Amino acid sequence: MNEDAKKTLLRFIPHGLYVITTGAGDSAHGFTATWMTQASFKPPLVAIGVRRDSHAFTTIAANGSFIVNFVGKNDRAICEKFFQPPKSENQHFGNYAFSPAPVTGGPALTDALAWLECKVTDIVDRGDHAVVVGEVVGANIIKAGDPLVLADTPWKYGG
Ligand SMILES: Cc1cc2nc3c(=O)[nH]c(=O)nc-3n(C[C@H](O)[C@H](O)[C@H](O)COP(=O)(O)O)c2cc1C
Repeated sequence: MNEDAKKTLLRFIPHGLYVITTGAGDSAHGFTATWMTQASFKPPLVAIGVRRDSHAFTTIAANGSFIVNFVGKNDRAICEKFFQPPKSENQHFGNYAFSPAPVTGGPALTDALAWLECKVTDIVDRGDHAVVVGEVVGANIIKAGDPLVLADTPWKYGG
């Protein structure tokens, strides 16, 4: 295989930027993610790629649910904060407050643009990232605005 072409093409895939959160209370966890896509209309499914050796994977697998928090174009700092996930305390990740989402109780970020609440249906555990499939069971738009996408930033994740 042409490794350079593979890397270039995998990086051509357009991606959004999200903070994916899971758990509850002081054991809630969140991390910045870009590998997220819709995977079915009926039922509404999304698929996320989660680093197999991360705390994020262990927590999502243990809780059976996750929240996809959409971040606004002007809120890049939120994603930067969750590159090194802050500890959860008193319904906050550092300065970022969260509250329990209605269906799963997962941590929904107050400063997000919007969020989707998902229940894990399947985990494909094959590579260095697991593909976690989630059924969308809740959705909320907090404020108007455009979502931040990977192409708005100098960051790379993929290849
Ligand atoms: C731009 C960018 C995008 C990322 N996207 C993902 C992703 O889609 N999936 C993932 O598992 N990690 C992704 N990461 C890495 C996580 O943010 C990082 O591993 C995080 O610290 C989770 O590790 P932890 O749960 O062990 O603390 C990304 C990092 C960057 C810089």
